[in-house]
Amino acid sequence: MYWNVFSLSFLCRLILIGIVVVGLLLSMPMFVEKGGYAMEKPPEKPLIDLPAPRTDGASALEKALNERRSVRHYTDRPLTLAHIGQLLWAAQGITNSRGFRTAPSAGALYPLEIYLVAGKAEKINPGIYHYRPAGHQLEQVKAGDHRKAVCDAALSQSAVRNAPVSIIITGVLERTTAKYGKRGIQYVFMEAGHAAQNVLLQAVSLNLGAVPIGAFQNEALGRILGPSESERPLYILCIGHPAAR
Ligand SMILES: Cc1cc2nc3c(=O)[nH]c(=O)nc-3n(C[C@H](O)[C@H](O)[C@H](O)COP(=O)(O)O)c2cc1C
Repeated sequence: MYWNVFSLSFLCRLILIGIVVVGLLLSMPMFVEKGGYAMEKPPEKPLIDLPAPRTDGASALEKALNERRSVRHYTDRPLTLAHIGQLLWAAQGITNSRGFRTAPSAGALYPLEIYLVAGKAEKINPGIYHYRPAGHQLEQVKAGDHRKAVCDAALSQSAVRNAPVSIIITGVLERTTAKYGKRGIQYVFMEAGHAAQNVLLQAVSLNLGAVPIGAFQNEALGRILGPSESERPLYILCIGHPAAR
């Protein structure tokens, strides 16, 4: 009897340790990294290859932090494809073979989607494009200059209409809430902040000016982008060459 009780409690402890070990293993990044690649749907249109991002720029992070200021007035000069590729990479570019990205992500679930609203950009026709991190490519979502419509959704803020390009960050909340429940909503908002700050600092180091825009109507902006209902617009980042003032 004594031996039976002893062996039963030993077995229970063994099972418990097993559960803890398996739980720890499953929470390790190598088991949760799939989101980075797996979320991308097959393209419906030809993709635009972006120039490989620079990862060895000469400008110091401290300099970019010190110089970052919200810039709301821009010249008409278009952004180059290299600018656009670099800015999108800063937002969500993939930086290792396991699919991890420039911005951190809770559980490596990558709930953010990145859109480019192109008005004046070299080698890119005006339109709305979706960034595909896996291939560092753009897929057109809509043709035409949609800056006025985005400006209207952003309470008519002129920076949105005048910036040669804007980057819009959306979030698919379910990607993160599926694992973290309600708290996942907070995580997605936090991640939008990480990605946005990356873009703002990258803009400074490219001698560009940028402003983050949080004042916009979610539904109106969602209709312009046309993503699925589960995708929520989180941030607009207007970017251009700063106008002398
Ligand atoms: C969450 C958030 C939302 C913002 N929304 C707007 C906006 O809708 N329009 C705008 O012109 N600036 C917006 N800004 C920029 C702030 O006005 C700006 O950061 C602030 O005035 C400080 O100036 P600085 O960015 O030059 O340091 C926003 C900033 C944050 C962090």
